[in-house]
Amino acid sequence: MKSDDVAILIHGDINSGRDALTEEKYKDLASSFSSDGFNVKSVLYNDGLADKLRTDLLKFGAVLVWVNPIEQGRDRKKLDLLLAEISEKGCFVSTHPDIIIKMGTKDILYKTKDMDWGGDIKMYTTHEDFVKRFHASLLGAGIRVLKQYRGNGGNGVYKIIYKSADAVTLVHAIAGNEERTLSWSEFNTAFKPFFSNNGLLIDQEWNENTINGMVRCYLSGTKVAGFGYQEINALYELKNYNTQTHFPPGKRYYFTENCGLFSDLKEIMETSWVFQLRNNLSITEDMMPVIWDADFFINKINSPTAVEKYTLCEINVSCVSPFPSSAIKFIVDEVRNRIRK
Ligand SMILES: Nc1ncnc2c1ncn2[C@@H]1O[C@H](COP(=O)(O)OP(=O)(O)O)[C@@H](O)[C@H]1O
Ligand SMILES: [Mg+2]
Repeated sequence: MKSDDVAILIHGDINSGRDALTEEKYKDLASSFSSDGFNVKSVLYNDGLADKLRTDLLKFGAVLVWVNPIEQGRDRKKLDLLLAEISEKGCFVSTHPDIIIKMGTKDILYKTKDMDWGGDIKMYTTHEDFVKRFHASLLGAGIRVLKQYRGNGGNGVYKIIYKSADAVTLVHAIAGNEERTLSWSEFNTAFKPFFSNNGLLIDQEWNENTINGMVRCYLSGTKVAGFGYQEINALYELKNYNTQTHFPPGKRYYFTENCGLFSDLKEIMETSWVFQLRNNLSITEDMMPVIWDADFFINKINSPTAVEKYTLCEINVSCVSPFPSSAIKFIVDEVRNRIRK
């Protein structure tokens, strides 16, 4: 194992032609590692290669992973086992699978619901419990959002609208704004599969303020490394579209960590929220991902307090890309600190 060898691990078949060293999303990061004296290589991952990689990856001091929780319909079970194993043997892995389970799954919303960034969140760990309690939750609120345990790209995220004693309407975040109406019993059956394989459902309050857009706060370890702002998101209501100016889905614009628009968010993240999060989940500083993000709803544009202004939508730790170019120096520094430790 050479401590200066860094692997950028991305998903792909051997014939996919993917190469992190030349791919738009990673090439600047890769060249930054090189100019900093690291030996950086692009490594492809798919489940068929796991056994071979078990030995191949051990020659790297650090393996930086960009693979989604759901990649071409498959989960990360095999990959996570492999990463835990090489980490055990001394290879620095980011993000470590134990941390993905703690921070990067949707139950983070439930575990941190009492923090300043939290809100009204319920969690159902069995289908029986879901059937018993969700009806009342939806009846009380009129609209709720259900999120599956592990997902990305709107997969398994639904806006649920109470229609009548016998019907609910749902909108899947992955499928644009198409509405489907089901009877309660059809609905309950349709959501049963989310509980298999230790799955669960998170029931989050509907955020009324998505017209303000959402801010993505990028972090490396415990430091804010940049921001993204996206005006139109999944589940944004069609009636709010002004087709003259808005075309779904919105583009995300990137800003450095010093962007004045979000300086309140940087300050509260670095002085309080990240610390509370680590405390809450028992995560030591050296286990924090080298690149991760927290997505926030912007409740009130001009609120004097960040506590009122921002509510957490989700945290991503598995495959944060693209990221703002300001994050690159933070990632390289963070990796250097971790492997030279
Ligand atoms: N509580 C909510 N209120 C309004 N819109 C939401 C809510 N939760 C999620 N969304 C919308 O759905 C999208 C996907 O949800 P998210 O939690 O980010 O899951 P994913 O991991 O699939 O990205 C968000 O980007 C946002 O546009
Ligand atoms: Mg998201």
